[in-house]
Amino acid sequence: MSSTLLAAGLLCLPLALAQSGVVKPLVQDCSPNIPGVVCINKYASVMPYHFFRNNPNVTTDITLGQTSVPNDTSWARVESADFLVFDQQKAMQILGPKPTNEFVFKISKAVHEAPVYVPAQNKLYMSEHWSQLAPPTGYLPQLVVDLNANPPTLSEYLSDPPVYAPNGGTFHKGLIYWGASGGSNSIGGMEQRVGVITLDPLTNKTNVLLNNYYGHYFNTVDDLVVDACGDVWFTDPQYSWFTGLTDTPPQLEAASYRFRPSTGEVSIVDDSILQPNGIALSPDGKYVYISDTGMIDGTLSPEYPNIHGVTLNYTSKRTIYKFDLTDNGTHITGKRPIWLSQDWVPDGLKVARNGYVLTGAGKGVDIMDDRGHMIARVQTNYTVQNFAWTGKNWTDFWIMGQGGVSKVTWNLQGPELV
Ligand SMILES: *[C@@H]1O[C@H](CO)[C@@H](O)[C@H](O)[C@H]1NC(C)=O
Ligand SMILES: *[C@@H]1O[C@H](CO)[C@@H](O)[C@H](O)[C@H]1NC(C)=O
Ligand SMILES: *[C@@H]1O[C@H](CO)[C@@H](O)[C@H](O)[C@H]1NC(C)=O
Ligand SMILES: *[C@@H]1O[C@H](CO)[C@@H](O)[C@H](O)[C@H]1NC(C)=O
Ligand SMILES: *[C@@H]1O[C@H](CO)[C@@H](O)[C@H](O)[C@H]1NC(C)=O
Ligand SMILES: *[C@@H]1O[C@H](CO)[C@@H](O)[C@H](O)[C@H]1NC(C)=O
Ligand SMILES: *[C@@H]1O[C@H](CO)[C@@H](O)[C@H](O)[C@H]1NC(C)=O
Repeated sequence: MSSTLLAAGLLCLPLALAQSGVVKPLVQDCSPNIPGVVCINKYASVMPYHFFRNNPNVTTDITLGQTSVPNDTSWARVESADFLVFDQQKAMQILGPKPTNEFVFKISKAVHEAPVYVPAQNKLYMSEHWSQLAPPTGYLPQLVVDLNANPPTLSEYLSDPPVYAPNGGTFHKGLIYWGASGGSNSIGGMEQRVGVITLDPLTNKTNVLLNNYYGHYFNTVDDLVVDACGDVWFTDPQYSWFTGLTDTPPQLEAASYRFRPSTGEVSIVDDSILQPNGIALSPDGKYVYISDTGMIDGTLSPEYPNIHGVTLNYTSKRTIYKFDLTDNGTHITGKRPIWLSQDWVPDGLKVARNGYVLTGAGKGVDIMDDRGHMIARVQTNYTVQNFAWTGKNWTDFWIMGQGGVSKVTWNLQGPELV
């Protein structure tokens, strides 16, 4: 048996290293010199009884630190830590000797998404959008963080023409690419449909690249990424209907696509994910990651076509899948789950320069390697939607979500998007 495994080239950890009995303590300093960074021993794989973590509901997230573990007082350190470390060796390399995690701007409880750094301006663009089920409806401006100012400033930004509810964004060859997630026939006096829109940050002009699938409206265009050939990979879940950002019930299944701006052609690449959300490419162009946030779903009933609303099913999907590129880089195959979110759902999804996968999930950002091996988590006191790297060396890391914008400094470099 063991020789068969060895012949298959499998490397196993010696059994002597297996965890046995309650992990003591569950939590400790990683290094006395770095306050705010705590190590969770052996993933807290055996907690002392009686422990319990409650399920969240639509309005309330229950974080890891809120797990009740009364028989280990060290657990109390989890909730207030800036960083949670699970793989000490790998985490210390990316955190560096002096990681910081600072809350910078208090903002509205609206969704804050689509962060895009424009290196030539040293500015970070992001979107703010309210569910139309909550006021103010039809809010059009985006937000810009000016990193040239000290301290950085936050202001409203209106493109020409304005774009309603960008929900995903990236930078490619001088242009911001937005996944525009809202649609109605009166947006700033004009009709706008869900699609892909570019913004030239030098002129403030926007340009629609895609607004339909053979005449059908897209549902949401939630997140997007541009590959080395200029193709735009995007997810199209059905959230905009559930949250009232579009006036038309879904005409298409939830799916993910690749769009080639040079020809206008859109090709479906995945139809297996309940609600595809974040999408990212590995730096070597070999893999695509897509998150399924089907834990948050909605009402889609032919009998009640006009009912909006979000439902939460804690035992449904909150998973990151990895795929291989195939067919000369035009399609994806080999879907496998690599990470089941321990907190809320994996929303924003990006890959660092070294191939590590990051996701904004609940009140923080998870950092794992390309196989979903959990390394560390940045904690926030608000629900994170997304994040982006900024700065000359792409090592400043801005996080945003419902109620806050924060800045992390560390050694983990983002991709050079220019
Ligand atoms: C702590 O552990 C002891 C013994 O294992 C157990 O009797 C006690 O009920 C536990 N306390 C709590 C609060 O769970
Ligand atoms: C969600 O859970 C929180 C905490 O348990 C509770 O205060 C709140 O009322 C719940 N909300 C709903 C809509 O069930
Ligand atoms: C673009 O918008 C910014 C912010 O509103 C403004 O400062 C800038 O002058 C505008 N650029 C042009 C070319 O209109
Ligand atoms: C929640 O999701 C699970 C897994 O998909 C499913 O079996 C269950 O029926 C769902 N529950 C509800 C209330 O929809
Ligand atoms: C593969 O893709 C490259 C880049 O788009 C293209 O130049 C080449 O012709 C393609 N090869 C085949 C066999 O389709
Ligand atoms: C998060 O922390 C900041 C800074 O301490 C504080 O200003 C803000 O109110 C907090 N937000 C919440 C939702 O607790
Ligand atoms: C920028 O990153 C490179 C490569 O990771 C590193 O060698 C260099 O020291 C960094 N420069 C600064 C100013 O942090």
